[in-house]
Amino acid sequence: MDEKLFGAVDAFVGETIVSEDEVLRGAIEAAEVAGLPAIQVSPPQGKLLQLLVRLVGARRILEFGTLGGYSAILMARALPEDGRLISLEARAEYAEVARASIDAAGVGEKVEIRVGPALEALPGLEGKEPFDLVFIDADKVNTPNYFAWALERTRPGGLIVADNVVRGGTLADPGGDEAALAQRRLHEMLSGDSRVSATTIQTVGGKGYDGFLIALVEPV
Ligand code: SAH
Ligand code: DHB
Ligand code: MG
Repeated sequence: MDEKLFGAVDAFVGETIVSEDEVLRGAIEAAEVAGLPAIQVSPPQGKLLQLLVRLVGARRILEFGTLGGYSAILMARALPEDGRLISLEARAEYAEVARASIDAAGVGEKVEIRVGPALEALPGLEGKEPFDLVFIDADKVNTPNYFAWALERTRPGGLIVADNVVRGGTLADPGGDEAALAQRRLHEMLSGDSRVSATTIQTVGGKGYDGFLIALVEPV
């Protein structure tokens, strides 16, 4: 793996078609200062999220895994004025950093962070309007559980995106670790499920070799 080269390509894309402004750099900086791991989506991946938000005309977004708020800021920016994003974060200290960065980005009104393990937050989201887009990016072992929940609560024509499903290629390894096996389970679960049409795209970049799954929710 040539991570230096992948990083250089991301950097060139960043200098040309994917701009990261002061506010986003500030969010990364604040997260770093607070000691959060630098595992946010890359700028090109974040731009893809923004394009997807716009393509589906999303007004309601659910995110699993806030970290320092980087992906939340990007998606919130792509929402219309009355659009809303709920982001679930297990760690209160991360949520605090995210809250400050999201407010500083000027999208505070659009974003609600709910602190606690996502599985415990889900009952509180029942009975609301369906989501237009769900971004799953929290604890990887639970990705299939989050997906199953999201599938029932995303409108037809909406999208469910799951990050980190390829995991250095361990997706292809039946003897991988728990997190990798969970991604295999997710794929097996979707195989032959007519409620979604999905694909997985492998990615390289500064963070290495991984990939994301994108699923379009079909009308029933
Ligand atoms: N989406 C973010 C990155 C998220 S990193 C971005 O791209 O900017 C994964 C996050 O999931 C971490 O902040 C971690 O604390 C959180 N997390 C881990 N387990 C969780 C759980 N059970 N419920 C909610 N969040 C969880
Ligand atoms: C990790 C989590 C992520 O969401 C990611 O994109 C990369 C790494 C992690 O937990 O290590
Ligand atoms: Mg991720």
